[in-house]
Formats: sequence, structure tokens, C-alpha cells
Amino acid sequence: MKKLIIAIDGPSGVGKSTLSKRLAAELGYLNLDTGAMYRAVALAAWQRGIEADDCTALAELCREISISFERQGPAERVLLDGIDVSEAIRTPEISQLTPQFAACPEVREAMVCRQRELGRDGGIVLEGRDIGTVVFPQAEVKFFLKASAAERGRRRFLELQDKGVVVDLEQTIAEVRARDEADSSRADSPLRQAEDALVIDTTTLSIDEVLGEMLKAVARGV
Ligand code: DC
Repeated sequence: MKKLIIAIDGPSGVGKSTLSKRLAAELGYLNLDTGAMYRAVALAAWQRGIEADDCTALAELCREISISFERQGPAERVLLDGIDVSEAIRTPEISQLTPQFAACPEVREAMVCRQRELGRDGGIVLEGRDIGTVVFPQAEVKFFLKASAAERGRRRFLELQDKGVVVDLEQTIAEVRARDEADSSRADSPLRQAEDALVIDTTTLSIDEVLGEMLKAVARGV
């Protein structure tokens, strides 16, 4: 059977990561979390004191660093220059900083190039913000997931609480909105729904329900 390229785009908190992993596992495909790549760049820049508007230094940084993924049982670890940064890239601080670094055209060019290399042969589910519009506009199957900001904030709040991070619900919702605004309003490949994407509103759906919809769409070849 033909190995497809499947794109999953949408704002934070719609369930992209969980669904991308589940869908890839169901199909025996690779899963690529492109947000983790932008987070790793933000972490590397922050560690070196590089400002988000210094695109020359960021271009150089992207040439120097290596970002890779390693499967450990069911978990996927993110390595920055061989060091496991899976937790370090998901702190609230790095979450807040990442959209600024992800807006730099040089950073995007370097990451998109790498993502295209990794997805070239198909048999992959890529999740991000610009997969169906910029990275793989020719992807055979495209999903755009959405959910209300209040629900996305609530999910993020529960996720952080689960990790023992003390946060305020209203503040978490406000942060989710601020990140969406930054990701949607940047000049270079903003968060945007591809015209040929299948839109799924996950506000009131369980992960299994959304996965069911996705599997049906893949079978139809939407
Ligand atoms: O999906 P995430 O929350 O891990 O993404 C982290 C950040 O990276 C977020 O601000 C959006 C940005 N991003 C992007 O600009 N393009 C992508 N393809 C994926 C993520």
C-alpha cells in the first residue's frame, strides 16, 4: 500500500500530539512532532543568550545544532546535540519563548528543510502549524484540528497540574490565546488552515472519537 504523507495542523491544545502519535501507531507510520523542533531551537538559543530578533545568529545556530528523536518504549525523546531535552523544552518559560524564535524566517527555512527530508519517502504523520500549507502542500491527507480557547486552556492546565506545575486556569487560558495570536499573526508561514484540509472540532470529542474520524478519512484518502 502507498505510504502517505499525513499533515495535522492546528493551534495548541487541540490534541495534535496525542492524535498524531496514535494515528501513526495505527498505520505503522513514523510520527514527527515539528513543534518539538522549534522548541529545541528556542532552548538552544536561550542557553546561548541569542535574542529572537538576531536572525543571523539564529541561522548559524540552526546549522550548528543537531535535533533528533529517539524512541524509548512508548515514549519519544527529543535530543538536542545528543542530550535528552524532552522535559526542558516543555517548561512554561520555553513554551512562551518558542513562538518568537519560530517567527524567524531563517529558523523556519532550516526546520522546514529538515522536515521535508524526514518526510520525503512518506509513511509519516507530521504535526505542526504549517505542514499542510508550507511543508507538504502536496500531502495526501490533511487535517486541521480546532477547539475552543477555553477548552484548550483547560487541557493545558490539567496537563501542567498532572506534572505538578502550579498554575492558574485563567492565566493558562490567556497564555494559550497569546501563543495562538503570535503563531497566527507572524509574517512567515503563520498558522493557517489548508483549503483542502478536513477540519475537526475536538472541543467535545474524545481522543478515540477524533482518531476514528481520522482513520475513516485516511481510508477514504481525503
Ligand atoms: O506544537 P507545540 O506547542 O509544541 O509548538 C511549539 C511552538 O512552535 C508553537 O509556538 C508553534 C510553533 N510551531 C510552528 O511555528 N510551526 C510548526 N510547524 C510547529 C510549531
